[in-house]
Amino acid sequence: MDVPAASWLADRRRSLRRIAVVTGAGISAESGLPTFRGEDALWQGRNPMELFTPEALATRTRESWELFDRLRVLSARAEPNAGHRALAALARSHGVTLATQNIDGLHQRAGSRDVLELHGTLWRLSCAGCGHAGVNETAPLPLLPPPCPACGGPLRPDVVMFGEPLPADALRAATRAAETCDLMLVVGTSGAVYPAAGLPAIARAYGALLVEINPAPTELSAQMDYAARGTAAMLLPVIVRALRGD
Ligand code: OAD
Repeated sequence: MDVPAASWLADRRRSLRRIAVVTGAGISAESGLPTFRGEDALWQGRNPMELFTPEALATRTRESWELFDRLRVLSARAEPNAGHRALAALARSHGVTLATQNIDGLHQRAGSRDVLELHGTLWRLSCAGCGHAGVNETAPLPLLPPPCPACGGPLRPDVVMFGEPLPADALRAATRAAETCDLMLVVGTSGAVYPAAGLPAIARAYGALLVEINPAPTELSAQMDYAARGTAAMLLPVIVRALRGD
């Protein structure tokens, strides 16, 4: 396949050793998972932007949990795609820091290690009452909200909901990667949610090249050195081969 972005990167590959990657829901679209913005039939008419909030979890607990559980079921059934796998392969030849806004766990299942989960994960549940936290991969969950195994109180998913702070360690590491990378790949994100959407501007300010991989223009496109228009599963394998010199 002739991918102009790949030749553009191949010409520069020798100076691109440290690579930071920021991903969003679009990288999992070809695994069959819904994105957040835009009409997606997989949400079945329910709005994650409305139901994935601390207020909704407190006042419309069952409705909110039903949507989280639906995403857990879809994610458990989904398989990582060629885009996830290409990023895992890139880490075998380059220093790669992968920061994702996704909560589906597909990067890890594709083999990426030390993924910075900026928005948490669907697969860890915690109890505000007693502080218990642990991995739970049962999907669907038999009871909603799931009860805390320690105190019986309602568990919540360890996901960063609207208005909540990001995990400080992950954000710090992602910021550091933005400051020190030679290249940042921005994959499948609309760039609408901060602070994750601010990482490309940091990388640019510190002198990195920015490349977007997205079939549609985004709020970040104007900052890019190169905007590759296409899907993650189509473009990433070719781009990664170009960076590796394969
Ligand atoms: P969005 O739904 O806002 O954006 C998805 C992006 O993926 C869009 O720009 C699409 O054009 C692009 N896209 C669609 N299919 C693609 C494909 N096959 N390959 C590459 N790109 C594709 O999702 P995010 O930017 O991830 O927060 O949204 C950011 C945050 O908003 C999410 O993490 C979520 C939500 O609130 C939480 O869940 C905490």
